Amino acid sequence: MLSQLPKFEHPDLLSNAIPFADASIYRISENQALVQSVDFFTPIVDDPYLYGQIAAANSLSDIYAVGARPITAMNVVSFPMNCLEPDILVKILQGGADQVAAAGAVLAGGHSIEDEEPKYGLSVTGLVDPDKMLTACGAGRGDLLYLTKPVGTGILATALKGEVLSECGMALAIDGMATLNKAASEAMLAAGASACTDVTGFGLIGHGCELAEASGVGLRIDLNALPLYPQAQDMAAIGLVPVGAHRNKKHYARQLLGAERSDPILLDLLCDPQTSGGLLIAVSAERSELLEQELRQRSVPVYRIGEVTDEHPGIMELI
Ligand code: CO
Repeated sequence: MLSQLPKFEHPDLLSNAIPFADASIYRISENQALVQSVDFFTPIVDDPYLYGQIAAANSLSDIYAVGARPITAMNVVSFPMNCLEPDILVKILQGGADQVAAAGAVLAGGHSIEDEEPKYGLSVTGLVDPDKMLTACGAGRGDLLYLTKPVGTGILATALKGEVLSECGMALAIDGMATLNKAASEAMLAAGASACTDVTGFGLIGHGCELAEASGVGLRIDLNALPLYPQAQDMAAIGLVPVGAHRNKKHYARQLLGAERSDPILLDLLCDPQTSGGLLIAVSAERSELLEQELRQRSVPVYRIGEVTDEHPGIMELI
C-alpha cells in the first residue's frame, strides 16, 4: 500500500537506506541521530496496569533494538469514557509512565480520543550515534545468535482470550512482555555486537529472515534451543495458534529450509507473533563470551539459538 504514496527522500533520513528499519532514524548532527517510533494496540491482558506496562515496553523496543537511548515519550490513547471506569485509564497510563521512568526518559504529553475499545501505546524519541547504532545489517559468517526473551506470547494470549489459561497461568510471559529491552540493548552495545532486531509481530521467523536478508547471510537456528514461555508448547499443541502465526509461516515459507523435518509445534512457536519480544542479537564468536557476561551482569537471560553462515543468503535453516 505504501508504494502507492510518494516516498520522502532526505540525505539525513538514514533509515531510508537501512533495510527493514522499524524506527525512523534522522541525523541531526555529526554524531547524533533522532530515533523515532510509535506503536499502540488493544489490551492483551485484563489488568490495566500490566497492559500499560506491556504496551509501553513494546513501544520502547524499536529504540532499544538500534542501541539508542530513549529521551521523550508521548501517550497515544483511545478509551470508551462512557462505558469504562476512568480509574482503568489511570492505571493504564500509570503502567506506561512507570516504564518511561524506568527507561530514564521523560513523559512529555500525549493525545487521547474517545473510542469503543481501549488502545494504548507510546510515541517515543531516542538518540543514537549513527556510527555506533546497530541494525539488521552487519551480521557476518560465524556470528552466534542470541535471543533475550522466550517466545510464545501470541499463543498464550490466544489461550487467555479463549479462557483456556488464566492470567496467573501466563505470569512469566506477562512479566517478560513487561520487561524493557533496555538492559539487553546496553549489553549488546558493551559487547560490540554486529547486528540486532527486535522480535515482534512477524515472529522469530520473520524478523530472523529480515536480518538474514539485510545482512546477506544465512541463519542456522536450532529449534530445540528455542526458549519458550511455560505452557506455550502445550497451548500450541491443542491448536491455540493465532492467525498471525499462520500468516507468518505462509509469508516466510520460501525463506525457510528444513521445515518439513521439524517439529510442527516448535514451528508454530517460531512463527508466533510476539508482543514486546526480545532482541535477536548477532555477535562474533570472539565477542560472544563477553556478550554472555554483559547480559548476565544485567540479569538478562542468555539464550543461544543458532549461528550465522555464508550459505543460503536470506534463508533461515532449521536444524
Ligand atoms: Co521492531
